[in-house]
Amino acid sequence: MSDFILETRALTKEFKGFTAVNNVNLQVQRGHIHALIGPNGAGKTTCFNLLTKFLVPSAGQILFNGHDITSARPAQIARMGIIRSFQISAVFPHLTVLQNVRIGLQRQLGTTFHFWRSEKTLDRLNERAMGLLAEVDLTGFADTITADMPYGRKRALEIATTLAMEPELMLLDEPTQGMGHEDVHRVTELIRKVSQGRTILMVEHNMSVVSGICDKISVLQRGAMLAEGSYDEVSNNAQVMEAYMGTEAGAEAVELAGAH
Ligand SMILES: Nc1ncnc2c1ncn2[C@@H]1O[C@H](COP(=O)(O)OP(=O)(O)OP(=O)(O)O)[C@@H](O)[C@H]1O
Ligand SMILES: [Mg+2]
Repeated sequence: MSDFILETRALTKEFKGFTAVNNVNLQVQRGHIHALIGPNGAGKTTCFNLLTKFLVPSAGQILFNGHDITSARPAQIARMGIIRSFQISAVFPHLTVLQNVRIGLQRQLGTTFHFWRSEKTLDRLNERAMGLLAEVDLTGFADTITADMPYGRKRALEIATTLAMEPELMLLDEPTQGMGHEDVHRVTELIRKVSQGRTILMVEHNMSVVSGICDKISVLQRGAMLAEGSYDEVSNNAQVMEAYMGTEAGAEAVELAGAH
């Protein structure tokens, strides 16, 4: 099997003559936490939407484990093990934390009705749900109504419901967006933890998160790949510095570089 779990070849998306993603060749190595970064409007979310089949590419190819999935449908790639967290696996606010994870597990098992008739299977489902909660450090919140939890904990729950679908590749679009310092730290550590035995591709604006946990970074600018490499490589790249000049992330990156 190839080292690359996910590859794009000349991936391109045009919106009425405007090229949002331009000839992108992305190679995500199995087992990596891979970050997709770039200034606002660079095409990161569009890229994600192409990978998860929310958008149809104008040109190019997407390969997952060497199979061409360019024309696969969202449900098909989910079954293959590509799961996008946040924004999509929205949790039900009025259910308890445990109930939400159980729904995630049920979704994974499909609609086998007889399944519910066996008490033993039900016990196993509860056991697995509690296991997932333990994995994201939410055991103590099992019976809490989801809406009553702090924001960072809700995101941890979203990760648990994503894990319930047994992803081989997890796609995270700005997992720490809108979080305070403490939650950023918690979710970052959680991503590091759940990355064991999986591959993660994430869009992230927070450069301390990127430098802290990502193995490889791809930088997009105006739809095209500007640079790739480790955090040190891309943060010292003159073109990347120029692209980020005057942006908040740029200022933060400069601070980080100073701290190194
Ligand atoms: N459905 C659409 N129709 C037309 N233009 C679009 C559409 N979606 C995105 N774009 C344009 O494509 C470009 C890339 O947008 P995209 O949302 O992918 O950027 P991004 O890198 O995710 O930015 P941000 O950091 O702000 O989230 C932008 O110029 C955007 O206006
Ligand atoms: Mg975006």
